[in-house]
Amino acid sequence: MSEKPAPDRNLAMDLVRVTEAAALASSAWIGRGEKELADGAAVRAMRSVLATVSMTGTVVIGEGEKDNAPMLYNGELIGDCQGPPVDVAVDPIEGTTPTAMGRWGAMSVMAVATKGSMFFPGPIVYMNKLATGPEGVGVVSLELTPSENIRELAKAKRCQPSDITTVILDRPRHEELIEEVRAAGAKIRLIGDGDVSGAVATALSDVDADILLGVGGSPEAVLAAAGLRCIDGQIQVQLWPRNEAERSAAVAAGYDIDRILTIDDLINSDNCFFAATGLTDSDLLKGVRHRENQLVTHSIVMRSRSKTIRTIEAVHKKEKLRNFALL
Ligand code: FBP
Repeated sequence: MSEKPAPDRNLAMDLVRVTEAAALASSAWIGRGEKELADGAAVRAMRSVLATVSMTGTVVIGEGEKDNAPMLYNGELIGDCQGPPVDVAVDPIEGTTPTAMGRWGAMSVMAVATKGSMFFPGPIVYMNKLATGPEGVGVVSLELTPSENIRELAKAKRCQPSDITTVILDRPRHEELIEEVRAAGAKIRLIGDGDVSGAVATALSDVDADILLGVGGSPEAVLAAAGLRCIDGQIQVQLWPRNEAERSAAVAAGYDIDRILTIDDLINSDNCFFAATGLTDSDLLKGVRHRENQLVTHSIVMRSRSKTIRTIEAVHKKEKLRNFALL
């Protein structure tokens, strides 16, 4: 058998067709109060377009275990199985609640990286996260307190703590964190959902976001790491077991609960690709816009090796989408 090629071409250009398909298909469900139906539409669309992408992909971050997820389950082989062997992270809808409620902050997102390079979080559902743009590299750390991080980041950015905007998921578990950040004098942007875009936004100069702190989903941490690798940002995480059973399961599976994992632990490759398409409006992307005969999507496509960032606005004819069963 001939050896499979390394992922050398910009796969992200193909991946954006996948996230566009998922966003288009699920856009019909925006605001209709049906999380699962929206997610199902996104998963089916994503999977059908993924089959055309030239890669031999293994889902590392997917919809969950095979028994609960009929499609895009962890370990599933995807792509046309002719292209390079790669690890794949998918989130057909990052922000199922904002989609169902028609709120700000939902997108379809995926990442691909060299085979064997993506962190598999196993039984751990949540991680404690810290993400920043390039100025925070070597400056902030999960070993420091939130106030110390804000102070150090402000120094590195040559500004005052009061100029720093901290992105935090609006959850009761973050009450103390919010108080500490306020006491440190920084601004806070509380987000309802969507900490992948919250993390990636910290490395984009046109968004008012300097540091993301707090506990969010583990799969989202890996996706954010892929995005941040493409724009020289950083993310550090610590596994955050919800209870003793989860902690014991993780320890039994060989995870070190106390270790601080860096971006290199989450994506151990400098060849990774990230694509996302807005479903509803967010800091990063505009949501899907419905016109009379067409739908308009807004996507971001990035590659770590070249550090290329592309934003793509695409116009899709409704009739064509119906032919492909995407509407
Ligand atoms: P879903 O689309 O899976 O609902 O995830 C949305 C999200 O806000 C993530 O961005 C975040 O990491 C996670 O949920 C936080 O989890 P929780 O809502 O349980 O606090």
